[in-house]
Amino acid sequence: MDSIQPMSISNTNPTTDTARSPQANEPVLGKARFWDRIARKYAADPIADMPGYEATLRRVRHLLTAEMNVLEIGCGTGSSALRLAPFTRRLLATDVSAGMIAIAREKLAAEPVPQLAFGVADADAPAAAPGDYHAVLAFNLLHLVSNLDGALGSVVQALRPGGLLISKTACISEMNPLIPWLAIPVMRAIGKAPHVLCFDAVALQAAMVRQGLEIEAVERHGTKGKDIRVFIVARKPG
Ligand SMILES: C[S@@+](CC[C@H](N)C(=O)[O-])C[C@H]1O[C@@H](n2cnc3c(N)ncnc32)[C@H](O)[C@@H]1O
Repeated sequence: MDSIQPMSISNTNPTTDTARSPQANEPVLGKARFWDRIARKYAADPIADMPGYEATLRRVRHLLTAEMNVLEIGCGTGSSALRLAPFTRRLLATDVSAGMIAIAREKLAAEPVPQLAFGVADADAPAAAPGDYHAVLAFNLLHLVSNLDGALGSVVQALRPGGLLISKTACISEMNPLIPWLAIPVMRAIGKAPHVLCFDAVALQAAMVRQGLEIEAVERHGTKGKDIRVFIVARKPG
């Protein structure tokens, strides 16, 4: 097996691109601060919809093969990576939060999976290994990046021609409007919520298409009422 090099944080330079949200200029450590602070609690919290989560993992497993070199972005404490890595050739799971990655590494040490490595990296930064990956996984991440088109552009850079983006993402615009317009801003003001992007599933697919991806599947796996988390499989042509 090839050695797996953790990615390094590289996108700390300010950008002059006015199409980006102000958070795109935020230093990487600032982006990570919220997640570092809640990492232990996040690791301890139970998954809200376990049957829905298991359905997603089953679906992803069937898209992966033992020949695939896979990147996960925004992996959190690595729960999904630990479950999926045995079905890949190698899986590099990354997160902007060093606190999340420290917990992921503790879990990996307790339950070694030879295909798996964790690293700290910003999904908003350009791909560290362009064209290296057969698949990029992004679970509960794309609504949290600073710039959706920029992050998707980095995913496309990271993928080989024919490679897959497999994403499950909260569509905040599909929630009761009081949540994005009132609850989230209030929670942000008191440090209880991160910066979020508001889009629906149609806008998310449009952003993927803008970056040159072809949409292959759009699904919802939730088992508890309205499911705002859309599961999308998109392919880089070639
Ligand atoms: C809601 S958690 C999801 C974690 C994991 N993917 C899961 O499904 O349990 C969001 C994760 O995205 C990470 N994150 C937020 N912004 C990021 C960025 N720009 N680049 C990489 N990771 C980021 C956070 O640190 C956090 O671990």
